[in-house]
Amino acid sequence: MKAKKNVLLTGGAGYIGSHTFLSLIENGYNPIIIDNFHNSKKEVINRLEHIIKCKINLIEGDICEREIVLKAFEKFDISSVIHFAAFKSVEESVTKASYYLSNNIIGLLNIIEAMRIFKCNKIVFSSSACVYGDKEEMPVSEDTHRKFVNPYGQSKIICEDILETYKNSADLRYLILRYFNPIGCHESAMIGEDPKSELSNLMPNIAQVAIGKKPYLEVFGNDYNTIDGTGVRDYIHIMDLADGHVAALKKIEIEGVNTSINLGTGKGYSVFEIIRAYEKVSGKKIEYKLCPKRSGDVPIIFADIKKAKKVLNWNSKRDIIEMCRSSWQWQLENPDGY
Ligand code: NAD
Ligand code: WQD
Repeated sequence: MKAKKNVLLTGGAGYIGSHTFLSLIENGYNPIIIDNFHNSKKEVINRLEHIIKCKINLIEGDICEREIVLKAFEKFDISSVIHFAAFKSVEESVTKASYYLSNNIIGLLNIIEAMRIFKCNKIVFSSSACVYGDKEEMPVSEDTHRKFVNPYGQSKIICEDILETYKNSADLRYLILRYFNPIGCHESAMIGEDPKSELSNLMPNIAQVAIGKKPYLEVFGNDYNTIDGTGVRDYIHIMDLADGHVAALKKIEIEGVNTSINLGTGKGYSVFEIIRAYEKVSGKKIEYKLCPKRSGDVPIIFADIKKAKKVLNWNSKRDIIEMCRSSWQWQLENPDGY
């Protein structure tokens, strides 16, 4: 029997990493997690082990410590890397810019250096729709000019450029995935979104209102130039996103494409549309209050998804109702998170 390929998941205990872990297992890979649990809880590892019914290869440590990264490559014969580990709060990045820039950039540099030493040349990188900044033309394609509007976005643009720099010197094959707004959970509802940091995104806040943990949702702005005045985003089911990583990995195993790809559904939904969809699946009334716009929010953004289809032969499969149902299932079965 052919040995399974070892894939190093930096930040594999986090929201997107833990779901991608399961997609990789389903596709015959052997994922190895390295995480310092800065923003994730250890219970996620127990849950993953329960689902796959065996022990996980876990390295607990900070990828900004070079020795820890080198040890991981020494211990396992790593075939490729999916690099999720990063700090991701836009708001926090504004007040702690150097903390964000150093974690996100030094982490990547250490990974690339270890890859060079251990002759591993395939990497999938977690980037974000926030590299597009505030654009008027929708949808945004990968050729859209990048512009950062906060240090978090800046860190993603710098990391994207670092990968480009190394593609010649380290013979690196990379795929940069620019995620839109992931929501929902694995079908088992044993893993989902439960960070250590405060939940600031729309969907978990709606879920908290639906279950009665919050009295109402704050709707940030209702006079944007959108269908109903509220902000419009491209929400994508977390398992579709996870499958996108498997498609990306398979692609760079075959050829060195070295490019950036949007992972979204190509459809935008307003806050009010999401509230209505959530009410439908949960049977709960979502109370809300209109509040001032959140600083730094863009009115509307959704992805041009042609390149994902063309290059990865991947597209999302789950619709917005399924996404809301999935979020609700996680909330109902895990009212206090992990
Ligand atoms: P997350 O915070 O749930 O997961 C990130 C994981 O990385 C956490 O488990 C954290 O403990 C770990 N980590 C952070 N710094 C580390 C370090 N120095 N050493 C070791 N581990 C470290 O976030 P997520 O939502 O799963 O996001 C994963 C990636 O996707 C991030 O790079 C993020 O910027 C990017 N992204 C996320 C979204 C989103 O909406 N969730 C959207 C676009 C891009
Ligand atoms: C969606 C819409 C809000 C909460 C953020 C990051 C981005 C990316 C994903 C990492 C907006 C409105 C929200 C609430 C609301 N992360 N809203 N009430 O802003 O697209 O992106 O997370 O890369 O970088 O900026 O997602 O879910 O926070 O907001 O009205 O309580 O919901 O104003 O219009 P966003 P979000």
